[in-house]
Amino acid sequence: MSRTDYSLLLAQAQAITAGEDDLIANLSNISALVFDTLENVNWVGFYLTRAPETLVLGPFQGKVACLRIDFGKGVCGAAASTRVTQRIHDVHEFPGHIACDSASNSEVVVPLIVNDKVVGVFDLDSPSVGRFSEEDAAGLTELGRFIETLNWASLADV
Ligand code: SME
Repeated sequence: MSRTDYSLLLAQAQAITAGEDDLIANLSNISALVFDTLENVNWVGFYLTRAPETLVLGPFQGKVACLRIDFGKGVCGAAASTRVTQRIHDVHEFPGHIACDSASNSEVVVPLIVNDKVVGVFDLDSPSVGRFSEEDAAGLTELGRFIETLNWASLADV
């Protein structure tokens, strides 16, 4: 499996969102870009904080997924409550892991923080145990920092 060029991925994310200020449109295309670019992933997308301490399914690529995840539950909820990127070697060893797609075996979740508020998470799943390296987690976290600069104010109730 070849390594991902995260500098190129970031530049592409910046290019496809430039000039568009609708958050949902931009998150939709970013999920498609990342899903197409990374090898060996089966789910890439966003959960958005749309109710207090609750992540609600947002734009994504992959199979039908869980609709709502409470902060603190599963890998996504852990990212939201700790505000730290989660890199999980084997999701089946993670206490409280939420199995949306039984094919998923490893996961990275990047918390998205705007104005000191967790506005959502960026979630990636792979069918392979240990798919995500520290370099992947760092590159995806950097991409998350860019995603935080998008127009979150265009989303009501965040
Ligand atoms: N596995 C995640 C749930 C979201 S799905 O993977 C898309 C979790 O434990 O938070």
